[in-house]
Amino acid sequence: MKENVLLRVHKVARYFGGLKAVDGVSFTVSSGEIVGLIGPNGAGKTTLFNLISGFLKPTAGEIFFRGVPIHGKRPNAIARLGVGRTFQIVKPFAELSVRDNVLAGMGAHIYPTLRAFGDYYHTPTAVAKADRILERVGLAPYADARADTLPIGLQRRLEIARALALSPLLLLLDESAAGLTHEEAAQLADLIRSLREEGITILLVEHNMRFAMNLCERIVVLNQGRVLAEGTPDKIQNNPAVIEAYLGHSGRVGGENE
Ligand SMILES: Nc1ncnc2c1ncn2[C@@H]1O[C@H](COP(=O)(O)OP(=O)(O)OP(=O)(O)O)[C@@H](O)[C@H]1O
Ligand SMILES: [Mg+2]
Repeated sequence: MKENVLLRVHKVARYFGGLKAVDGVSFTVSSGEIVGLIGPNGAGKTTLFNLISGFLKPTAGEIFFRGVPIHGKRPNAIARLGVGRTFQIVKPFAELSVRDNVLAGMGAHIYPTLRAFGDYYHTPTAVAKADRILERVGLAPYADARADTLPIGLQRRLEIARALALSPLLLLLDESAAGLTHEEAAQLADLIRSLREEGITILLVEHNMRFAMNLCERIVVLNQGRVLAEGTPDKIQNNPAVIEAYLGHSGRVGGENE
């Protein structure tokens, strides 16, 4: 095992009845990497994120974060250990301000209900940290806006801001570039690179191939719940099995969102 392995997914499976959504997946992510997780629709990418972040329990297998077993732990416990995540379907608290959404991300593990959050969590220190995060992701001008008034590109940034609230070591991004223009996607790539420079390791699910291939140093390809290939973007793009898997779905690697 590599010395600086941050995340180790070992023979992980998750079945839904007879459907093997994730079927014996193993891979590692080392500290400081930007790793892409790609694959056709239904390949099991989001299910794998749900398993790593504790929203689902594996049917089999083990997941280690910094050597600590996290399969079986609850989402809040895993978040506190340093695993942040975003959701493919953005889930802001629509009626709260952008700033309060980040505060909620900080306090969620302490004050699980919004009411308790409102009563206790507006400390000056917490607010200052929320504002630093908003500055970091380019949302400072929108701090007081209601979350649901943001366009989708900015809601995806808010998802990242909320995931940063607990100062994660590993950030799981589920299709953060979906629906973005090329320019917005390029800005998002810059943000992700700068987060990595600050010491955050990134594992990202992406359908936008240009985005993933430019940004990631290593790609893991899932297909029908299994790892089909793993390697550098160049190697993956020229892998016949990968091309074949995408041909069966959308005609070319990354077809539908490109
Ligand atoms: N809670 C669930 N109950 C039953 N089946 C599920 C559940 N979650 C996911 N699945 C199924 O598991 C398979 C993998 O789904 P998953 O959402 O992980 O795919 P994905 O790779 O993220 O796809 P996409 O690119 O479309 O987001 C799909 O067949 C999906 O229908
Ligand atoms: Mg998905």
